[in-house]
Amino acid sequence: MNFDLLIRNGVVAFPWGEVAADVGVQGGIIAAIGTNLGNAEQIFDAAHLTVLPGIIDPHVHFRDGGLGGIKGVEDMASGTLGAVLGGVTSVFDMPNTEPAATSAETVARKHDYISGQAYCDVGIYVGGTKENIVELAALEVMPGVCGIKIFAGSSTGNLMVEDDEHIGMIMRAGRRRISFHSEDEYRLQARKSRFSCGDPYASHAQWRDVECAYLGTRRITALARKTGRPAHILHVSTAEEFAFLRDHKALMSVEVLLNHLVQSAPDTYDRLGPYGVMNPPVRDERHRLAAWAAVADGTVDTLASDHAPHAAAAKERPWPDCASGMTGVQTLLPMMLEQVAQGNLSLSRLTSLMADGPARVYGAVNKGRIAAGYDADFSIVDLRARRRIEKSWIASQCGWTPFEGVVCTGWPVATIVRGQMVMRDGAVAGAPTGRPVLFRS
Ligand code: DOR
Ligand code: ZN
Repeated sequence: MNFDLLIRNGVVAFPWGEVAADVGVQGGIIAAIGTNLGNAEQIFDAAHLTVLPGIIDPHVHFRDGGLGGIKGVEDMASGTLGAVLGGVTSVFDMPNTEPAATSAETVARKHDYISGQAYCDVGIYVGGTKENIVELAALEVMPGVCGIKIFAGSSTGNLMVEDDEHIGMIMRAGRRRISFHSEDEYRLQARKSRFSCGDPYASHAQWRDVECAYLGTRRITALARKTGRPAHILHVSTAEEFAFLRDHKALMSVEVLLNHLVQSAPDTYDRLGPYGVMNPPVRDERHRLAAWAAVADGTVDTLASDHAPHAAAAKERPWPDCASGMTGVQTLLPMMLEQVAQGNLSLSRLTSLMADGPARVYGAVNKGRIAAGYDADFSIVDLRARRRIEKSWIASQCGWTPFEGVVCTGWPVATIVRGQMVMRDGAVAGAPTGRPVLFRS
């Protein structure tokens, strides 16, 4: 057989383990897996390299609803450029963009904008609001839509549905799994007056405390059970929530962020100040270790970066006016490969969290695993390469990373999206060829 692309001599990370095999690609699809497969237009010699399924970052904020993003912060092109440089082949973009993705018009605009702007494939979250409840059942099945996202607690932007009545109405208005930013808005507001402007940045985790997140998650889980609607709790950050959610897996699925696996208080606030501030906050070691335990026992379904770029000037304001969120789409895979090198998880658990898991939870069609008939998305990595994360490498327009200076063992050397070599040896060549992700809806 004559393939478009043949990836030869590599070790392929299948869901069932790592096996030496060649992969033949035809028309953007995995056409054959084995040895002595034949010839190809393009041969990629993956000797000494590991071929991972295309890594999916299911939680990014690229700020761009189709009108060009925010200058100096991010747009679709710069965000997805960072993704492919970091070995990510698909991202799911949150709805708090400019304009917000909350209507048929704004969702269609983002969908049409992706082709021509994006370097990787993109899924679109629809923002649920109190105003668009009647439209949600139709919006959640629009092309490219990965699901509905509800901000149950306030964060960046003004999308919020804080009360049980409206959350319940949203849960009754449709079928697909809904993703939640789970912090209890009432508790957030009630505790705000205990703190003052200019308090240490570490106050962020005292204000947005464990009970804020845990109470939010208990409320959402109760509503999921009442309505029978599956829900996905984004960025679970407390030991209490992990312990609770593992008893509710029939309806609930769980996302963990890299940040909550590798960063903890007080160290992160001491070293990064405002650059360590995010929602939900980085917490102390007890919670970080609980997050790892939840990775180990299968409670966690997906891993994400929550890439949330902000201009340096917005980050550097005194607390609590400093912008919340850290960049991360580009550093997600190298940082996780370092965790594999340190022995904190296996490569197969990494791919289950970063490829198979997101594809399963959101219903992405033909993504998430290396299998015949699936999209030819690959993140090819050198598990032995040792590289330092440099600020100069970061493609995000805001130009900073909380992981500057971290040395990673394991580094992405090629990113292939539907058979197209988008990144090779740190260089991105050619026009953007990303497309909206297809979802089972
Ligand atoms: O820290 C955060 N930043 N948390 C969020 O929920 C939103 C995000 C952003 O968009 O900046
Ligand atoms: Zn987020």
